[in-house]
Amino acid sequence: MLGPDGDFITMPEISQIFGELLGIWCLSEWMGAGKPSHFQLVEFGPGRGSLANDILSIHLHGALGGAAVSVHLVEVSSKLSQALTRDQSQVWARKDEPVYRQGTTTTGLPISWYRNLDDVPRGTIYLAHEFFDALPIHKFQRTKGWREVMVDIDLDEPGKLRFVIVPARTLASPQLIQAGEVRRLVEVCPEGGVIVQQLANRIAEDGGAALIADYGHGGTKTDTFRGFKDHKLHDVLASPGSADLTADVDFSCLIKMAGATVVCMGPVCQRDFLKNMGIDTSGKKPCVLLRKCADPSIKAELIQGYDMLTNPQKMGERFQFFTMLNHSRLTSPEQSKGAPTPLPVTSFSELGLS
Ligand SMILES: C[S@@+](CC[C@H](N)C(=O)[O-])C[C@H]1O[C@@H](n2cnc3c(N)ncnc32)[C@H](O)[C@@H]1O
Repeated sequence: MLGPDGDFITMPEISQIFGELLGIWCLSEWMGAGKPSHFQLVEFGPGRGSLANDILSIHLHGALGGAAVSVHLVEVSSKLSQALTRDQSQVWARKDEPVYRQGTTTTGLPISWYRNLDDVPRGTIYLAHEFFDALPIHKFQRTKGWREVMVDIDLDEPGKLRFVIVPARTLASPQLIQAGEVRRLVEVCPEGGVIVQQLANRIAEDGGAALIADYGHGGTKTDTFRGFKDHKLHDVLASPGSADLTADVDFSCLIKMAGATVVCMGPVCQRDFLKNMGIDTSGKKPCVLLRKCADPSIKAELIQGYDMLTNPQKMGERFQFFTMLNHSRLTSPEQSKGAPTPLPVTSFSELGLS
């Protein structure tokens, strides 16, 4: 479970500023998509729903000029899906159906939960924050050829698990290794690749944009699979099912899977992304929340959150942002070269936000 009492904490749980700025991105991309009459927010792995909640709290309504807003969450954990609804009497649970839960958000918007993207209606804006790192990976090691690393029962120590190199090729070992791979150890996340392809197809056909934010690298890291329990590193093979397991996202792999159907931008580090979104908009004062805040203790909390989000020694450089956009979104020759150009966010007031 996530949160201060759980095994790990995520950015939306640290500071509301984070969700507010991602809301600016969503709005900016909705405008870039030609202001469609339906603003459909799709979030993967929302957990306790803090990010969607903060995005919806920035008074999108006024800025969206009458567009119909709906929220669609792809979440496997029905326990985590309990958040975000106004009250439980407003929820319709349909256990075995593709839409397994429906209701109304605290701000009065229709909200639905799904297990698979296939079941989600075609959308405009897709978000995945700390979702791809939670998907299962295959591990491979180069020996005489590529061999898959698997989990086995340790016969020397009953009750324990161990990693083993499979002596023969598995179905996955020739399929999932990229031609020209130079690393000795590789982690591959096929499920992540499939989801990115589905998203790319949707964006190419319908317009809109996707933002993927996660711990990750550009195809250089080797052994990133790790566990967290009670906010401390935890042996991934010890007491299975009791800890959070994660592996850094290989963004180079996602870019390959997206192909040329969409424009891929980034990854850029969190600090740069949030600055492009206007975290410093009002001089040195980070964002609207702080400007409006009169309570000194809340102010101190916001400043601490700002530091955590942007400081290169903290989360500022460890966390990466990657976007997929419809080709129509490109407006200048510079942008079409594929450089991670800052997206054209202007100011809060220009976006119609107070
Ligand atoms: C690390 S948590 C991130 C939660 C949230 N996005 C945040 O940043 O606070 C990962 C989330 O992805 C969900 N998840 C993991 N695998 C999934 C899958 N295959 N389909 C849908 N949700 C999944 C988990 O239940 C959890 O809510």
